[in-house]
Amino acid sequence: MGKEQEHWGSRIGLVLAMAGNAVGLGNFLRFPVQAIQNGGGAFILPYLVSFLVMGLPLLWVEWAIGRHGGIYGKHSPPFSFSRLSPNPFWKYFGVFGIFTNLGIIAYYTYIESWTLAYVFFAIKGTFLGMGQSSEFVSFFDHYVDVGDGKKINIPGNALIFFFITLWINVFFLSRGLSRGIEMVAKIGVPMLLVMGIILAIRALTLEPGSSQVVHDPMIALNFLWEPKFDSLLNPSVWLAAAGQVFFTLSLGMGPMIVYASYIAKNDDIVLNAMGAGWMNEFVEIVIGASVVIPIAVAYMGLDWVQNNAGFMMGFKTLPYLFNNWGVAGSILANFFWFALLFIAGITSSLSMGTPWMSFMEDEFNWSRKKAAYIFGMITAILALPTILFFQHGVFDEYDYWTGTVFLVVFAMGEIILFAWVFGMENAWEEITRGADLKIPAFYKFIIKYVTTFFISIVFLASLVNPVGGRWVDAWNSVFSGNGWPFGETSIIGRILHSGAKDTSYFVDGNFTHVFFMDMSRLLLVAVFLGIAWMVYLAGKKNREEGP
Ligand code: PHE
Repeated sequence: MGKEQEHWGSRIGLVLAMAGNAVGLGNFLRFPVQAIQNGGGAFILPYLVSFLVMGLPLLWVEWAIGRHGGIYGKHSPPFSFSRLSPNPFWKYFGVFGIFTNLGIIAYYTYIESWTLAYVFFAIKGTFLGMGQSSEFVSFFDHYVDVGDGKKINIPGNALIFFFITLWINVFFLSRGLSRGIEMVAKIGVPMLLVMGIILAIRALTLEPGSSQVVHDPMIALNFLWEPKFDSLLNPSVWLAAAGQVFFTLSLGMGPMIVYASYIAKNDDIVLNAMGAGWMNEFVEIVIGASVVIPIAVAYMGLDWVQNNAGFMMGFKTLPYLFNNWGVAGSILANFFWFALLFIAGITSSLSMGTPWMSFMEDEFNWSRKKAAYIFGMITAILALPTILFFQHGVFDEYDYWTGTVFLVVFAMGEIILFAWVFGMENAWEEITRGADLKIPAFYKFIIKYVTTFFISIVFLASLVNPVGGRWVDAWNSVFSGNGWPFGETSIIGRILHSGAKDTSYFVDGNFTHVFFMDMSRLLLVAVFLGIAWMVYLAGKKNREEGP
């Protein structure tokens, strides 16, 4: 080897890096929207249950799988998995732990680059007096006339900010674990907390009657927190809640396994994993829920928010509403909001680079710099289609497969591998060794049966989720002989393009959405196979060199 071994600088650094990994755009942009769209208080109960019986156990499982591999000098998911079972299936299954990250980072850094751009425009004062319209995104679009009255969109600003963002990521990755990722987290996470808390307090103290504030922001919190039991039986709400728990905790992706593989054999897992996990929940449920939604409700009312809740609310609605806070107030609020998002984003996107980095460093002896540069190039290649063909749904396609479906698939595989193949007794020993805190023994039962069962149900439900999430109607349709109506968000429905009226690739001289979707899939499959092939080469090399 001859290379210096990566390691974490300190325990607090490790926990902050793990928290930075989990706290991301998902906490501020995805969670509030999911909560509103799924009925506020109706969402919160399934969310909490998913956290307790699936999120928390999976955190321990991923930390334990990682630490276990690290003992043998294995830090990348395929090879941490192969330490748990000699069956080559698992090694190849571990490919997801590298691949998924490449798919996610391709669109995640793009959004991250918006937040950087918005920080820049916030300081410039661009948002002052702007209306709530497409003006906000217009500085990303740049149409060029190509004759015949046709225009093509070359989004100059989007590309510039994207490459700056990607470069920053590559730069910190190339500095390694403690001088790169840990340093960014140690500075960034506290800053993020301070800015988030200030914004949340400002939001919750908006007083009706003062400058355009028409509603009490507490209406938003009531809607989000007052438990509603009517939708407890709706599988679609459960699916959304479980999906959010996966995404926000970065479960089923791989980086956590990699982070944990750099801790020592007897370092505590139980408490550290909980520390990072609860910190993420604090930022999600307390801070994340107290900014976008309460501010929007205060100025626009709950009905408006329910009808318009979407990811773009953070980019279009907030800067517009901040105008009510005066020139200085608005510039400051925009700066805080987008800087916070950028920090949340970068501490997550850096983590997505680590499975690839550790794989190339461990198995092919690459230097950190080389691994980081090539990672940047692959990310750029995958990201360009999402930027250039954003309107054609490439972004959504990446998000659907890598940001939603494969997380569940990977998590299902890892829990089966760890609790059933490796064995629950070994697994328990692995989780609890060196623990400063005792986990109640019933968690042994929960991990083996409840978590496994829960994830399997989530997976099955995602496979067949019916049109509009209307399960009762779907069963009626089956009993009246019309078959199961696969919804466009179900895996089977998605594969079959069940939402599209027409599945041809070319209509009226233009490529269709279906074309772009299929091309994105082809690209993703190619990346998966490429990594699987490298895993094969690495395995062969290991066998030749002997243990
Ligand atoms: N958990 C992050 C968020 O909430 C997303 C993420 C995905 C982080 C993949 C790491 C790896 O935004």
